[in-house]
Amino acid sequence: MYHINGISIHVLPTQAAAAEFAANQIARQVVNKPTSVLGFCTGSTAEPVYAHLVDLHRRKLVSFHDVVTFNLDEYYPISPDHVQSYARFMRERLFDSIDVNPRNTHIPDGAAADPQAAVIEYERLLGSFGPIDLLFAGVGLNTHIGFNEPPTCRTSRTRLVALTEETRLANSRFFSSLCDVPSQSITMGIGNVCEAQAVILCAFGSAKAEAVLNTLTAPPSEETPGAFIQGHPNCMFVMDSKAAALLR
Ligand code: GLP
Repeated sequence: MYHINGISIHVLPTQAAAAEFAANQIARQVVNKPTSVLGFCTGSTAEPVYAHLVDLHRRKLVSFHDVVTFNLDEYYPISPDHVQSYARFMRERLFDSIDVNPRNTHIPDGAAADPQAAVIEYERLLGSFGPIDLLFAGVGLNTHIGFNEPPTCRTSRTRLVALTEETRLANSRFFSSLCDVPSQSITMGIGNVCEAQAVILCAFGSAKAEAVLNTLTAPPSEETPGAFIQGHPNCMFVMDSKAAALLR
């Protein structure tokens, strides 16, 4: 383990080992503080991590009974039952397989008739339960965390944002066509992310190597929003050796 710009770097040989390491960190947080407020992400990076969390729960090594969760983001507009909604992702990959109280799980409302009202309500809820004890997130190819696409400022809060074509294209692999990818999302801001007491970032595979390098070493700017995490007092970046390929 070593540090780059204040972030502790954990490189594991394989994706499976890295996902297990990240899941163990999340489980340790919950064992140490059963009432933890957790920040969760979605996406392919999260899948193996949640699979390990489910396994730890089945083995009775961790209970999520008293945790409160806040997801980073949700497409807009999208129904919570849509097969690609992040609400459904969380139910299918994690929440339905652990003992979390569904009432304690929060995801931005992608089906809100009034997205601005949904944004205000999400910030209110975050404020009433926060700060987040541990936030787990992947990074996008352009270093976005949540859906904080470039340009995003350091102090950004929960808001409705437009998705970049790069991200829509990257995520179109999950939809039947690019046209079906929603053009907007409701996402926590970088300000919300940086306020978390602890952050675990994860990245797997060679396609993320450049995003990992930029998140860790690019000068923090609105064009590389993930780099605003540099200097966070308690952030670790967990990755496999392929994602670490450009780090020295
Ligand atoms: C997506 C999501 C993020 C996710 C990131 C990486 O667009 N909004 O929450 O962490 O991009 O996704 P993946 O892990 O599938 O590469």
